[in-house]
Amino acid sequence: MKVLLTGATGFLGGHLVPRLLGRGLSVRAFARPTSRTAPLEAQGVEIVRGALTDDGDVAAAMDGVDAVVHAAGGGLALDPAVIHRANTETTRTLVRHATSLRRFVLVSSLAAHGPSRPGRPATEADPDAPRSEYGKSKLAAERALAALPCPWVVLRPPALYGEGEHRMEPLLRAARRGVVPTVYPAGTLSMLSGPDCAEAIAQALVQPEAAGVYYVAEPEPITRRAMAQAVGSQVGRRVLVVPLPPLVVRAAAALAEARARGGAPLVLTRDKVRDVLQPHQACDPGRALRELDWSPRDRFLAAASARNR
Ligand SMILES: NC(=O)c1ccc[n+]([C@@H]2O[C@H](COP(=O)([O-])OP(=O)(O)OC[C@H]3O[C@@H](n4cnc5c(N)ncnc54)[C@H](OP(=O)(O)O)[C@@H]3O)[C@@H](O)[C@H]2O)c1
Repeated sequence: MKVLLTGATGFLGGHLVPRLLGRGLSVRAFARPTSRTAPLEAQGVEIVRGALTDDGDVAAAMDGVDAVVHAAGGGLALDPAVIHRANTETTRTLVRHATSLRRFVLVSSLAAHGPSRPGRPATEADPDAPRSEYGKSKLAAERALAALPCPWVVLRPPALYGEGEHRMEPLLRAARRGVVPTVYPAGTLSMLSGPDCAEAIAQALVQPEAAGVYYVAEPEPITRRAMAQAVGSQVGRRVLVVPLPPLVVRAAAALAEARARGGAPLVLTRDKVRDVLQPHQACDPGRALRELDWSPRDRFLAAASARNR
């Protein structure tokens, strides 16, 4: 089976490529003209380049493939139009050219659902109410799959962690200083390691019965306080978890956007904060555990404390 993979150059793609190749699948990666593809080529991945919103580029890339894994996307941009292009428009373009596929797998996000209720992780039966442009763009991408003439699977991971994921860096820096300011310390989060997420994607591709939307996450959500403490133990510090007022987070995002407009790297946006400021972002992976022949091996809390042993 030949798979067209988008997002192969990203954090998740790095974990996914060896798992697809390991299942005997042949991988064609769709990369942007600027993407660094040497590590993929070294693994025997075929590279095609272009824009995922260009019909000609996408039609050519789709020629001869049996399945698509659409993992490209993201939510860190100043302009909401960029977020919608990366997540929704890219999906719509792929769907328009998916005339002879056997399967389409979309990597969405828990953000497409929005916040969960206290003590009740979201299930696939719960109605969606995304808060951020990122979440809305992922939900719109999911809805575009209805036009596909082949079976499709949507995976909704929560926050991912693991080797190659740099978004935990600010938390690690705070933990090294011994004080971790945290919004809603009692709030709950689902977590999933990059390798476990990649394994779920590979399973969604090859499990013949897999269909529809799945939450993929570790079985037990963790509190933000436990997360901060675990990151502390990862850097060998007992940390003080200090409640952070939401207003301060909003102000930090506005400042980060102003700095980015002046040329600094973009690290936080007001849109991102719409998700961060939901006290509960937890989901129930029960359906994936039952139907994908998949089970996450890593646990965030155990992984963080094991690193310091
Ligand atoms: N990381 C998380 O915590 C998390 C959680 C839930 C869902 N997800 C979803 O998982 C997927 C992979 O995330 P990741 O963590 O691997 O992100 P990442 O490390 O930032 O990589 C993003 C990938 O998407 C590509 N990409 C981004 N915008 C694109 C566009 N407009 N056109 C074409 N390619 C584009 C990038 O290509 P370049 O190399 O050219 O930049 C890169 O290959 C994304 O869809 C993301 O929304 C991630």
